[in-house]
Amino acid sequence: MQKPEIQLSRLSLEEKARLCVGMNFWMTQNYPEYDIPSLFMSDGPHGLRKQDVEKSDHLGINESHPSVCYPTASAAACTWDRDLLRRMGCVLGREAAQSGVDILLGPGINIKRSPLCGRNFEYYSEDPCLAGELAAAMVEGIQSAPAAACVKHFAANSQENRRKAVDAVMDERTLREIYLAAFETVVKKGGVKAVMTSYNKVNGDYPAQNPHLSRDILRQEWGFDGILLTDWGAMDQIVPSLQAGLSLQMPGNDGSSVRKLVKSVEDGRLKEECLDGAVLSILRVIQSLRETPAAEPISPEEGHAFAAEVAKNAVVLLKNEDSILPLGENDRIAVIGEMAAEPRYQGGGSSHVNPYRVSSALEEMKKLCPGLVYAPGYSGAETNEALLEQARAAAASCHTVVAFIGLPESFESETYDRTSLDIPPAYVRLVEELAAVNPRLAVVLSNGSVISMPWLLRAKAVVEAYLCGEAGGEAVSSILFGRTNPSGKLAETFVGRIEDSPAYLYTPAGEDRSDRCEYREGIFVGYRYYEKKKIDPVFPFGHGLSYTQFAYSQLRLNRKELSDGEELEVSCRVTNTGGVAGREIVQVYVGRVDSPVPAPVKELREFSKIHLEPGETKEVAFRLGKRAFAYYNTALGDYYVPDGQYQILVGASSADIRLWDTVRVRPEKPWQPEVTRNTILRDILESPQWSAIFSEKYAQIQPYLPFGLDKMDLEREPFARALLNNMTLHSLASYVGEHLRDEEIDALVDQMNRAAGRS
Ligand code: BGC
Repeated sequence: MQKPEIQLSRLSLEEKARLCVGMNFWMTQNYPEYDIPSLFMSDGPHGLRKQDVEKSDHLGINESHPSVCYPTASAAACTWDRDLLRRMGCVLGREAAQSGVDILLGPGINIKRSPLCGRNFEYYSEDPCLAGELAAAMVEGIQSAPAAACVKHFAANSQENRRKAVDAVMDERTLREIYLAAFETVVKKGGVKAVMTSYNKVNGDYPAQNPHLSRDILRQEWGFDGILLTDWGAMDQIVPSLQAGLSLQMPGNDGSSVRKLVKSVEDGRLKEECLDGAVLSILRVIQSLRETPAAEPISPEEGHAFAAEVAKNAVVLLKNEDSILPLGENDRIAVIGEMAAEPRYQGGGSSHVNPYRVSSALEEMKKLCPGLVYAPGYSGAETNEALLEQARAAAASCHTVVAFIGLPESFESETYDRTSLDIPPAYVRLVEELAAVNPRLAVVLSNGSVISMPWLLRAKAVVEAYLCGEAGGEAVSSILFGRTNPSGKLAETFVGRIEDSPAYLYTPAGEDRSDRCEYREGIFVGYRYYEKKKIDPVFPFGHGLSYTQFAYSQLRLNRKELSDGEELEVSCRVTNTGGVAGREIVQVYVGRVDSPVPAPVKELREFSKIHLEPGETKEVAFRLGKRAFAYYNTALGDYYVPDGQYQILVGASSADIRLWDTVRVRPEKPWQPEVTRNTILRDILESPQWSAIFSEKYAQIQPYLPFGLDKMDLEREPFARALLNNMTLHSLASYVGEHLRDEEIDALVDQMNRAAGRS
């Protein structure tokens, strides 16, 4: 293949414009005469949804070619396993390449702002570190085959309600720290080759045509040089979009966008270099795919077995009172609930996969325990009195009961949000009635996102299986019978009441007609919010049980003080103190003591999943760099680490911290805000540099301040201290007139700014 630059030079204006608009629903324009092939795109995040071009849609309406259905993102994230996600990416990449798919439209990495978002099952986490790290690993895997990953939806795609009109309005710090951070990791660390813009606007404009997001941050700051494409039908205005850094409008239209592009270049409204930049980004991806060695094809059987492996690592054991799990294979067991036989294993919409075969928990459990008793218990989402009676009788006659419930398919999907955390009342009633006849009750949940559990006290054990893909049946059965030791942990907080969730007051839902959604909770999303507000969740972020126990010891930091240009090495030991082998997810959080800006109690900054045989001990080591301690300083326009003490907290969940220590981190380049006439005295006096400049003048004007300073005990009297501390330079001047003139203030301000390195 010729170099992209040479290919570009051979294309006419119209040919270039055609490359920037889909040729049809799934493909880009091809030019065999220039050796430029089409790029074929397919969803998606947890399995291929390859459609024939003649039977295309972006909502999972028409059937796609059969392919393996892996656990959805909300489940896969519970593995907290970078290596497994990398392997999942490899498998997806191989399947894509063998099916002739060049760009896989996933993974989805939006942050779960509200538990109600209809697409939460397609997203990883409420935490940007976890989402970014897992996605980067998955992207590396996909791109190890000749296939490009396309992360989506850039950015802040947090709701389905009014999804194409809503404007996600937030401050720059929130945007950077919460909603862009995972994208940044996937671009910088994962080397992703394509990014899809979101349907929603961000701070006033669609991301495709938002120069701040797409040009300044994505392209210039992060150095992304791949394809930036619109979500399907998300194009508003193509000329400003290309100017802002977009490469490709999807899907194609009747040629009108091409005509607009050509005309705009001819009119001089669009610079040809801008079009060239977009074309080059596409040609570069074509070239990199050609240079990637061919991948081995994958069989449906291999895919299914791997889907089972991911699912086994994803399932989360939320509760296990009296250790009623694992079940004995010789026990008399009642399996209740239609969902055991007809599993809910994926979500609705554009990510919908047409699987080769789906295993049910019931058929898999029967293989291990042929004598089990099954009763459907309900019909769809409705109570059926006869089925309920039959289920009660089955439960009463058995040693242990396993009830399968969750969210029916119609409760969560792309295109709409949920309006509550409730599951169907029929399922709640089932749990209550079963518990009344047999207290040894385990509940298995199939749902794509957080639900409320008013029945929790009635169940001794709860297994969260999420939407676990086509092999979820094997995983659930293996975990229930203890053949697999559960090792998944929650990637989101299970809050009890929607009213307690961070976005509750600010998220237009249901019939709300507002297109402006203000993210007023700011950076306080998920556990960052619940911890700060001291709201006890039902199950905290990072929680998950095992059939064994792990002891943490010997936290070591390689230094007690460092600059933000250095790395902190953190290590600890973890021992499996129980009787079976297991996998533990060690989580490292950092909390800033006395933060100068609003800050969460702590934030996840690193994690690792390790395997331990009974009695085995392993040392786990982490490195924390600048970003682990930094916040986004909007005045500086960069991440900044304020000088101070930081807590290093290592634990088994956000609420189960086992080891901690503190470290001092100093910025290499200390930053001070700009001094102005409105700077307060406290800020000036607390800065050695500034107070050295100001103190002489301050001593001179004190006798003229009308507060009787000589009678106040400035050291001890809070009133006097606060009064002065909060005084601005201009206010001080307003009391002393000639003794602090405007020119003097300006000169002092100037001097202080120069001392702090500002010219
Ligand atoms: C979805 C995308 C998807 C695209 C193509 C859109 O409706 O938002 O996530 O990749 O369709 O199917």
